[in-house]
Amino acid sequence: MKIISSMSPWRAAILAIAFTTAGHAEENQKGTVPAQELQAKFDYCRTCHGVSGQGFRGAYPMPRLAGQQPEYIENQLRAFIERRRTNPVMFNVAHVLSPEMIDGLAERFKELNPKPLGGAPKELVAEGKTIFEDGLPSADVPPCASCHGPEAKGDGSFPRLAGQLNDYIFNKLTNWTKERGQDPAHPDTSAIMEPIAHKLTQAQIAAVAAYLSYLE
Ligand code: HEC
Ligand code: HEC
Repeated sequence: MKIISSMSPWRAAILAIAFTTAGHAEENQKGTVPAQELQAKFDYCRTCHGVSGQGFRGAYPMPRLAGQQPEYIENQLRAFIERRRTNPVMFNVAHVLSPEMIDGLAERFKELNPKPLGGAPKELVAEGKTIFEDGLPSADVPPCASCHGPEAKGDGSFPRLAGQLNDYIFNKLTNWTKERGQDPAHPDTSAIMEPIAHKLTQAQIAAVAAYLSYLE
C-alpha cells in the first residue's frame, strides 16, 4: 500500500492498533444526520470550543478542534463514551451522540481554519521546536514530527497539534496516564503516546507546547 511505504516505522507499527479501534464505525450502515440537527449540535460544541473551533480559555482550557483530523476526533469521542478517556464534561456531551452525528461533527470541525489563540511564553518556542523536530535522543524520545507530521497537522488517528492551546497540551501530557487508556481490557491508540508523555520533563512539555501553540 502506497500510504504505508511513505510512513515512518513508528507510524506503520501503530496502524494495527489504529485500525482495530477505528474500524467498527465504518462497518455499520450509516445514514446522515438532517442538516438542521447537525448545525444545532455544532453550535452547541462551539459554545465551549470557540466560535471558530479555535479553543477557549475559561476555568480550564477547552481544546482547539478546528482543522483536527476527523478520525482522531471520532476516536476521542468514542473513548469518552466508553470511559477509556476520563473527562466528566465530555462524557456527558458525547454519550448522546449517534455515530452519524459524530462523523458529521468531525467533518465540520475539519473545515475550520482560524488563527491560533496564542498566549504562550515566546522565549520557550526555540527549545520547543528542537524537541518537536529532533525528539530527545538521550531520553529515547522520538521526534514528535515523525508521527504528528512536519507541520504538526496530524494524519488519521495521529492528532493535529498545530495551534493547540499550550496550557491544554501541558495538562494532557502531564496527566496522560491518569486520563487515557483507562480500560486495560481494551487498549487503544493512547498507548503509543504514554511512554513519550512519561519521559518528558515539565520544562520540556512547556517548551514543546509553546512552540505548537503558535503553529498555523
Ligand atoms: C461544556 C463544555 C463543552 C462542550 C459543550 C463540548 N466540549 Fe468537547 N471538550 C470540553 C473540554 C473541557 C475538553 C477537554 C477534556 C480534557 O481535558 O481531556 C473537551 C475535549 C473534547 C475533545 C478532545 C479533543 C482533543 O484534542 O483530544 C473532543 C474531540 C471534543 N471535546 C469534541 C466535542 C464535540 C464534538 C462537542 C459537541 C457535541 C463538544 N466537544 C462539546 C468541553 C466541552
Ligand atoms: C510514535 C508516534 C508518536 C510520537 C513520536 C509522538 N506522538 Fe503524540 N500522539 C500520538 C498518537 C497516536 C496520539 C493520539 C493518542 C490517542 O488516540 O489518545 C498522540 C497524541 C498526542 C497529544 C494529545 C493531543 C490532544 O489533542 O489531546 C499530544 C499533546 C501529543 N501527542 C504530543 C506529542 C509530543 C509533544 C511529542 C514529541 C515529544 C509526540 N506527541 C510524539 C503518537 C505520537
